[in-house]
Amino acid sequence: MIDDFISDKKAELILDGKSYILPIIEGTEGEKAIDIRSLRAKTGYVTIDSGYMNTGSCASTITFLDGEQSILNYRGYDIAELAENCSFVEVAYLLVHGSLPTQAQLSEFSRLLGGFALIHEDMIHFFDHFPPYAPPMSILSSMVNSLCNFYPEMNDNPGENIDMMAARLISKIRTIAAFSYKKSMGQPLVYPRHDYSYCANFLNMMFHSPVKPYMVSDAVVAALNKLLILHADHEQNCSTSTVRLVGSARVNLYASISAGINALWGPLHGGANQAVIEMLEEIFESGGDYMKYIERAKDPKDSFRLVGFGHRVYKSHDPRSRIIKNACDQVLASLGITSDPLLDIAREIEEVVLKDDYFVSRNLYPNVDFYSGIIYRAIGIPSNMFTVMFALGRLPGWIAHWKEMWDDPNWRIGRPRQIYTGPKRRPFVPISERKEFAV
Ligand code: ACO
Repeated sequence: MIDDFISDKKAELILDGKSYILPIIEGTEGEKAIDIRSLRAKTGYVTIDSGYMNTGSCASTITFLDGEQSILNYRGYDIAELAENCSFVEVAYLLVHGSLPTQAQLSEFSRLLGGFALIHEDMIHFFDHFPPYAPPMSILSSMVNSLCNFYPEMNDNPGENIDMMAARLISKIRTIAAFSYKKSMGQPLVYPRHDYSYCANFLNMMFHSPVKPYMVSDAVVAALNKLLILHADHEQNCSTSTVRLVGSARVNLYASISAGINALWGPLHGGANQAVIEMLEEIFESGGDYMKYIERAKDPKDSFRLVGFGHRVYKSHDPRSRIIKNACDQVLASLGITSDPLLDIAREIEEVVLKDDYFVSRNLYPNVDFYSGIIYRAIGIPSNMFTVMFALGRLPGWIAHWKEMWDDPNWRIGRPRQIYTGPKRRPFVPISERKEFAV
């Protein structure tokens, strides 16, 4: 696939006085890369790029992101248009299949989602054996990993079975997430219903109780659809790269996605949405002095970071954050919440930060996590479930990347190189002759 995009341009590299010509790859949106696949074979050199700041790991047709121009497109469609006009299920179909579904395709995909919503009854016993304080992300990754024991037929020929694999996973992860919440609350499980849409079904499984039926609200369903769509893919981020790397060893889809869930858990990645709300709550409860937190974030001697700001790729506004910020007002109004002190603090922080030289000079803008927690909180989702919500949203993207990697004729097991900086070869010392080294 990459080879189809080799352009007429060439790069010249002079190394040890010798000239090497390297191909240039040019993507459909004009992104350019120097193709170094043959560099080591030709020169003996590797490239080094800690944190993959400047390394393209693959060619991909799924998501285009321009961090300077604040552009985010899934399969060529602007994220804002998708968030405005589509359901999450439509966008999941788009990511996995490459085109928006027709009504018939959408109905069939929705039918599969409904049909796969239950999890094997034996898996339900697993929930009983996690301690009550177990982090929901840990439960989610364990349960998703376990799915391959219950549905092993899915390991055969993923190319042909991908529709079923995707639907099964997208449907079951929602049931697992809601069940883990109910267990943590000590409440009876609420089973999925075939007559509910994807988001309504999830909300009902989360919040229905035998003593207090849950009334599904269209506004809440719309907000949840929007949030999940905005999280559905973000090209080669930490968790997606993890899914691709683990999957590159030809590991099954469930195990690869489980690894991605663990990567997402990190506070610098998906875990930031929970950290944002905890930071806003802390500011509110300690009297509202947000300036103290902004000053701490700027202090080079303090490791504190203003969570919800900054992004590896966006050096301008995160387009998702703007859409979510606008959605906040609509959701709160529809729920009859006339004011939210955390939203007020968030807005004030953003206003100060966008004018502050420290943040401006480092291109630190609010990211997708800054406002999403306020909506989740208003819907009733507890903060320790926020990253689980992110995982539900990101799942179609992970599946699409896993499938793309699996089908790629240029597929290779992912295996970065390194520069070794440890001791040179030294003679072995028997234990009786070893001396203690000061550490
Ligand atoms: N608050 C204060 N300073 C910050 C912040 C922040 N949130 N983010 C970056 N900086 C500063 C760094 O201290 C550094 O300053 P320096 O040049 O003086 O040393 C500079 O900006 C560059 O930061 P890096 O850490 O090099 O940027 P990187 O691209 O590696 O990190 C990251 C991006 C991890 C998102 C970072 O901005 C951060 O930690 N943000 C807070 C956590 C967060 O919100 N994560 C969610 C990201 S979105 C997502 O994953 C879904």
